[in-house]
Amino acid sequence: MEDHVARARGALTNALVIHTDILAKKAERIYIEDADGRRYMDFTSGLATTNIGHNHPAVAEAIKRQAEDLIHSGCIFYYEPLLQLAETMREVTPPGLDMFFFANSGAEAVEGALKLARFSTGRQGIVAFTGGFHGRTFGSMSLTTSSIRYRRSYQPFVPSVYHSPYPYCYRCFFGQRPATCGMDCCTHIERLFKHMIPPDEVACMIVEPVLGEGGYVVPPKEFLPRLRDLCDKWNILLIFDEVQAGMGRTGKWFAAEHFGVVPDIMTIAKGIASGMPLSAIASRKEIMEKWPKGAHGTTFGGNPVSCAAAVATIDVMRKEGLLDNALRVGRHAMDRLREIQARFSAIGDVRGLGLMIGIEFVKEGDRPDTEGLGKVMDFCLEKGLILLDCGVDKNIIRLAPPLCVKREELDKGLDILESALAAVYGSGK
Ligand SMILES: Cc1ncc(COP(=O)(O)O)c(C=O)c1O
Repeated sequence: MEDHVARARGALTNALVIHTDILAKKAERIYIEDADGRRYMDFTSGLATTNIGHNHPAVAEAIKRQAEDLIHSGCIFYYEPLLQLAETMREVTPPGLDMFFFANSGAEAVEGALKLARFSTGRQGIVAFTGGFHGRTFGSMSLTTSSIRYRRSYQPFVPSVYHSPYPYCYRCFFGQRPATCGMDCCTHIERLFKHMIPPDEVACMIVEPVLGEGGYVVPPKEFLPRLRDLCDKWNILLIFDEVQAGMGRTGKWFAAEHFGVVPDIMTIAKGIASGMPLSAIASRKEIMEKWPKGAHGTTFGGNPVSCAAAVATIDVMRKEGLLDNALRVGRHAMDRLREIQARFSAIGDVRGLGLMIGIEFVKEGDRPDTEGLGKVMDFCLEKGLILLDCGVDKNIIRLAPPLCVKREELDKGLDILESALAAVYGSGK
């Protein structure tokens, strides 16, 4: 065992999964360099976070400058980066979502969003979707159903949470096929309202507009508009958890834009500050104004250094045209992956938006091939490409390179993936 892994085993809880044995020394754009000087391509973006690339010089400079001036406020005083960030976020969030609460992590933003929904509606019920991942704190974990490993031994959860299946069409919960389905995933919610909880007791529905940890699943285009209609009909607040899909990952600022739906509340984290701890709850003024002074708060949330990093991050995304690049390179990746899929029966499905792409591995028809994917990922790592899995059976690659990835770099990564497929499964179908 490598010395640093042994040291980690001796001092860090086993609960914390570190996905590779790499001892990272430094990083730049899509590359990570280890302590021995070996370079890897990071097609995970540090868990879909370093969207503008690792260690962008503009962000590093903003952090340095802010750290020299003011590191902490603890809500004792105002500071310019906080105001600048709120004003900048208004320019990129969907219309009307122009008031913010800044926190530290995705889970914390989700907790705050649930509190805001309950407080502002005076209702208790929460509808979430099976397969979703919203975090590991008690409220967010009570929504999370992407895998039982996040829930085992933690009962009881927060009460009044009701789950309905996410429209994962490749493995439809209702056994339907997209061409002929009647959107049972929506009618099921109406059934919940008849059997489990009356809609006038539901505060909010919370959904990932593109499923992240649960399998990088893009819902059918009707799904989110149908949720919007249901919420409007019953005065339920619609929360989009854009922690993973937001901040340009899908080639738009937020995945919601692909579906023409504006939620009432949105949670944002990961890509917002290029890896500095920061998250946000965005909502409309009239909802935020129902939260009275002191109803929610934070010591570290929206700290000056993270806010400065976020302002610099958004500026880089605009100046470098990273949304367009994500759309362009993402389309190319989808085309190439579909060609690869045609040659390897181990790839059952390829789906995605922008640079949020899921590649599902199967065997014997459509049974999840966890083991095959594990071998493919090990081969890729050996060749210098870092990939990450997702899905309840860990049989899906989440392809999420930084949005600054060039087409040639993407191709180099897919060449490695292709050679891994050939090594693990033979030369093709
Ligand atoms: C959609 C979504 N929501 C919430 C979270 C939780 O974020 P964090 O790990 O920052 O608490 C995640 C993390 O992966 C996520 O993907």
